[in-house]
Amino acid sequence: MSYSIPAEKISEIKHGADILEIISDVVVLKKAGRNYLGLCPFHSEKTPSFTVSPDKQMFYCFGCGEGGNVFTFVMKQEGIAFPEAVRFLAKRYGVVIIDQTSGPGVKKQMDERELLFQINRQAMEFFHHTLLNPQIGTPALSYLTGRGLPSSILTDFKLGYAPPGWNHLTHYFSGKDVALALVEKAGLISRRQSGSGYYDRFRDRVIFPIFNTHHQVAGFGGRVMDDSLPKYLNSPETPLYSKSRSLYGLFQAKPFCRQTGEVFIAEGYMDLLSLHLHGIQNSVATLGTAMAEEHIRLLKGVSQKITLVYDSDQAGIKAAQRCIELFKAHHQLEDIRILVLPEGHDPDSYLRQFGPESFKNAARDASGVFSFLINVAIKKHGLSLEGKLRIIQEMEEPLSTLTDGLTRISAIKEIAERTGIDESAIQEKIRENSPRRPFRAKPAEKVPDAGNKFDKHLIAMMLQFPEIIPELIEKNLIEYISDPLLKSTGNDILNSYRDLDNIPEQVNDLPSIVLMAADNDDKKRIIAACSIQKEEWGLEGCRKLMSQIERNQKRDNLRLLRQRIKVAEESGEQELLRQLTKECLDGQVSAGGR
Ligand code: GTP
Ligand code: MN
Repeated sequence: MSYSIPAEKISEIKHGADILEIISDVVVLKKAGRNYLGLCPFHSEKTPSFTVSPDKQMFYCFGCGEGGNVFTFVMKQEGIAFPEAVRFLAKRYGVVIIDQTSGPGVKKQMDERELLFQINRQAMEFFHHTLLNPQIGTPALSYLTGRGLPSSILTDFKLGYAPPGWNHLTHYFSGKDVALALVEKAGLISRRQSGSGYYDRFRDRVIFPIFNTHHQVAGFGGRVMDDSLPKYLNSPETPLYSKSRSLYGLFQAKPFCRQTGEVFIAEGYMDLLSLHLHGIQNSVATLGTAMAEEHIRLLKGVSQKITLVYDSDQAGIKAAQRCIELFKAHHQLEDIRILVLPEGHDPDSYLRQFGPESFKNAARDASGVFSFLINVAIKKHGLSLEGKLRIIQEMEEPLSTLTDGLTRISAIKEIAERTGIDESAIQEKIRENSPRRPFRAKPAEKVPDAGNKFDKHLIAMMLQFPEIIPELIEKNLIEYISDPLLKSTGNDILNSYRDLDNIPEQVNDLPSIVLMAADNDDKKRIIAACSIQKEEWGLEGCRKLMSQIERNQKRDNLRLLRQRIKVAEESGEQELLRQLTKECLDGQVSAGGR
């Protein structure tokens, strides 16, 4: 197993990695006081509640409750396990991890994913060199130049050429002593049906490498240079590539999306390259697959406004319906626009014929998902009385999926404005035609809201003002916490604190140390939340909080005592009654003071 990463390495990485830098790769962050705020990459939201604290090196989303440190973030974002996240960051920050399991002289054992990425990178270099090789690459090079792509684009996007023939790439890798089973796993070659050996997946095609957000090569697309079929061939689903998680050009587009706060989503490789070429670099492409939730998730972090570009009403309608379907539960459709280009044009051909300014103008007028559907309906049915009724009928279905009251009201308002029919009439029409369906409530947001407010403040206090912990130990306040998870978290904090031996710089690192030691995700969320939550008070406030908790506790005890006294009175147990009354009086004296 390659899981034994030495603890000092983990600590080295933890101290070397900057959470702000790592998260900024995928989320636009704005400074807000000591922290940074952005749109959460883990759930859909319109107002930023995703908080990153560079001081604490932690993140926490007040919307969905996701939180943790830099490792947690990488694990969640990349969908990988802890050791892989450690390696990922190690690589990024140049920390060398030598595996304990592999002795000296043994080839460094790498994570399989890492090996697959390496294989993909080698394949990309192979294809790229082949394209630039005058003996073999000429037909492909002239195809690409013939389509208007300058050499800068060929280099920036590392385009390539897979030569004709069945085993160029297979030979290339066997010559390099790479296990062909792994090359197969990367989706580059396939096992022969009969006989033994492998054959190349991509043959006589121009090659478009697909990068992930970290500029690793996740997969490839390949286009024929004539009319043969299939026109495009993509990598199969592999451990590195999944079409619903990939957006072509995202790595290159990211900085431009951040700059403009907007992103265009086209449908094809050539469209994307053309958009880039014409200076609309805040663009990506889905590759022959419908918009998926994961796509939006990838983009939400880098820009707030998304414009989907389609080459026909039909494709636009499908996409609009899909968006509504995808975002039923989250109401952020206003940020998504649909741009349909004139009949017969895709972005590539449009840009070549009309130029980027014209594209940008059209984009400025692009309508939101809902307005788009209304427009289509008006176009289809006209505005005669009968047409209007049809329009309302047609909008019923999309309307019914809008679970957010406000979005729904504004949609109805828009239909009313566009058709001239009274709002209330539309409401009624929709009500009478649709079977009563209950308004679906917004799914409960997952915030670690266990226990009462005081208990959470107590945990926050321990993490944010560790110097108060000795007083808290003395008063034994953790014992008063009623929620088991918060109580156990509190005890974890105490344990970590005791291990620190009072070394000041380590005490400041307490939140992060506790987080690393936490043994379950719910705890991690609580720790992240309580570390990052803005506490308005200082040390004095902590002391007040502690005495408040003590007072509450005593009051509760008294209440309990009084109940027991009543029972004792009723059952006539004199001895018990005397004892309880004494306890009660003692308690009142100390609880009432001050
Ligand atoms: P060009 O013809 O080179 O301009 O490409 P295009 O992008 O204009 O092609 P088209 O509009 O036909 O397709 C849009 C996108 O759908 C392509 O870029 C591909 O990602 C995908 N696609 C098209 N044809 C195929 C196919 O035969 N197989 C697969 N897997 N994907 C395809
Ligand atoms: Mn095209």
